[in-house]
Amino acid sequence: MVERKGIILAGGSGTRLYPVTMGISKQLLPVFNKPMIYYPLTVLMLAGIREIAIITTADDQPQFQRLLGDGSVWGIKLEYIIQPSPDGLAQAYLLAEDFLAGASSAMVLGDNLFFGHGLTESLVVANAKSVGGTVFGYRVADPQRYGVVGFGKDGTVTSLVEKPENPLSDYAVTGLYFLDGSAPARARSVKPSVRGELEITNLLETYLADGTLAVELLGRGYAWLDTGTHASLLDAGNFVRTLEERQGMLVGSPDEIAHSQGWISDAQLGERASLFAKSSYGHYIGQLAKPA
Ligand code: G1P
Repeated sequence: MVERKGIILAGGSGTRLYPVTMGISKQLLPVFNKPMIYYPLTVLMLAGIREIAIITTADDQPQFQRLLGDGSVWGIKLEYIIQPSPDGLAQAYLLAEDFLAGASSAMVLGDNLFFGHGLTESLVVANAKSVGGTVFGYRVADPQRYGVVGFGKDGTVTSLVEKPENPLSDYAVTGLYFLDGSAPARARSVKPSVRGELEITNLLETYLADGTLAVELLGRGYAWLDTGTHASLLDAGNFVRTLEERQGMLVGSPDEIAHSQGWISDAQLGERASLFAKSSYGHYIGQLAKPA
């Protein structure tokens, strides 16, 4: 079986964060001690995915390449795809069709931050499913801002609605989508919405209609954080800082995860640590490279 491939959608103009994002892509902004894109990248790595396409605007692409390179420092393979205009999440499957070449995919939004005990296990289960799709529902205080899951009496998923005025539940669909190889073909059948976008919700509806969409709920022990406003970006940074400083462990480090997955050696991790010798990030991964 062809291995599942990853997609990180990191396009968009970030206008909700202006003027911060006038000179830099939103997904390159820091969330405490790491660039934002490290967090979704590590979600894919935890799922065991090693071949990943990063979709960005043409202007931003060189900066992502400078930051992430070809992925070899983490034992993964990164490719870059340009999104000519931000026409919706489902467009990513059209742009990535050649890259996927029929493989299943896991797409994560470049500004989504997931944290929680048991996340890796949920990701591995979603990765193992070869037919249909898996998405993750998370309870939020403001479901109107998201794609929302509707449930029947027996708890089965009966509907998905994008930004409903009157949400049928408080469960938002998070920005992490495990879909099978039919996603690009299905994306082609999606028509632009009123806001002019190819909505991921419409693509997911095709799986729901076929009875092949699993919606896994992430319980209250998980954090799915938003970085869409100045305040929520700062909150996300403080959340990461609080956890890391309390536990003495990093959240969302591709260096640590590549090493724990066995994709890079102690020596390779040590090289990264010396590159970052002047930062606490570097000290931490240096400790991992030299187990006591
Ligand atoms: C998009 C999706 C929505 C999903 C959300 C997750 O919203 O359309 O279904 O719940 O991402 O972040 P957008 O960022 O386009 O407003």
